[in-house]
Amino acid sequence: MMRDAQTLEPHEGRLTRPAFWSALGAPWSSDDEETLVCCQVRQETHDVKSFFFMSREGRTFSFEPGQFITLELEIDGETINRCYTISSAPTRPHTISITVKRVPGGKVSNWLHENLRAGDAVRVLGPAGEFTCARHRAGKYLFLSAGSGITPLMSMSRSHHELGEDRDIVFIHSARTPDDIIFARELDLIASNQQHFRTSFVCERVGHRTNWPGVTGFLTLPLLRLIAPDFMEREIFTCGPAPYMKAVRDLLDEAGFDRARYHEESFSFDSLSPAEQAAASEGASAPVEGEAASGETQARYAVTFAKTHRDIECGAHEHVLDAAKRAGLRLPSSCTQGMCGTCKVKLVSGQVDMRHNGGIRQREIDQGMVLLCCSKPLSDLVVDK
Ligand SMILES: Cc1cc2nc3c(=O)[nH]c(=O)nc-3n(C[C@H](O)[C@H](O)[C@H](O)COP(=O)(O)OP(=O)(O)OC[C@H]3O[C@@H](n4cnc5c(N)ncnc54)[C@H](O)[C@@H]3O)c2cc1C
Ligand code: FES
Repeated sequence: MMRDAQTLEPHEGRLTRPAFWSALGAPWSSDDEETLVCCQVRQETHDVKSFFFMSREGRTFSFEPGQFITLELEIDGETINRCYTISSAPTRPHTISITVKRVPGGKVSNWLHENLRAGDAVRVLGPAGEFTCARHRAGKYLFLSAGSGITPLMSMSRSHHELGEDRDIVFIHSARTPDDIIFARELDLIASNQQHFRTSFVCERVGHRTNWPGVTGFLTLPLLRLIAPDFMEREIFTCGPAPYMKAVRDLLDEAGFDRARYHEESFSFDSLSPAEQAAASEGASAPVEGEAASGETQARYAVTFAKTHRDIECGAHEHVLDAAKRAGLRLPSSCTQGMCGTCKVKLVSGQVDMRHNGGIRQREIDQGMVLLCCSKPLSDLVVDK
């Protein structure tokens, strides 16, 4: 029987797309550590670059669109981990790319922009993360992103496009100015190739442009209703900085959107809130949220940061990273969910209850390493930081 390609739904056909995506290259898991070679660097906008990598052995890569890898870099004699989403699609399995936005004052993003060149080798931990449409199949999607949060949604869009899968996707991306829109031309190309793929850009201000035909301002509920009147019927994927994500959650809650069909990933960089900063600058050891309200007390332990000679207190039900930030310490962190390894430190003494999500290997645990973002103290601690 002849079938029209446009009506060939993957779950009706022989291939189920999630299996297809992750079967495109040799198996690649978050446990794999390997050295990849940078094969190209592309300037995407004035402060965003894409870095392309290939394997030294010429192997191919399999992952689910939306997943991230962890780079392990040696910078100024220090080993530093940071997560970056794979912005390329698994449908082009011979290379992968990451797309990095400079963060003012940020160590790794600026180092990559200034130092990483084609031919350089980089240590990489394999793909991780569950923020992927491959695990949430739906007839209609709404992709919402801001700034560098576009990367996982770009990987998903590229995958659908390259598989010739004209899925009904509305992609609304927010940027500071039109010149800050990452992948603008490619998104236009995908939209021109696919009848059911629509993009809309929302810019805070027009910047240097005199002819910006798009929307200016911020994403609001009335604007969302205008761009995607049927958004309540869509599976929503959101990625961006923490304040943007909160704004999106608030407006979806206001509309009564079913959270079961809402998926988000935050690239949370700077997590000190103004209240936390005020508490830190007063040198206050503020009570843990919830503790003050309930009047409950909990065991408190001393945590000593041996290298920086700082001592803080941490409640038994509090993650060490949160307590440290509250006390004004700036420690490297990225996902804050035990996934990326950015907050990994050596525990010199003491015991913690660590509930990680793959950001640390068993052999590292055996060597006394812990992730501070997902570790609660079980005793006084001394960490090598
Ligand atoms: C799952 C995941 C996927 C990600 N994907 C991407 C992606 O695709 N693209 C992308 O660009 N990013 C992505 N990120 C974010 C990325 O991992 C980094 O967090 C980001 O590049 C910033 O790292 P950095 O080392 O440059 O900044 P950091 O050095 O970690 O600094 C972050 C911020 O803290 C401030 N700061 C640092 N130290 C101090 C100090 N001592 N005192 C005061 N302020 C300080 C810096 O000024 C900066 O504002 C992702 C994050 C996660 C968790
Ligand atoms: S910040 Fe990612 S594992 Fe702790």
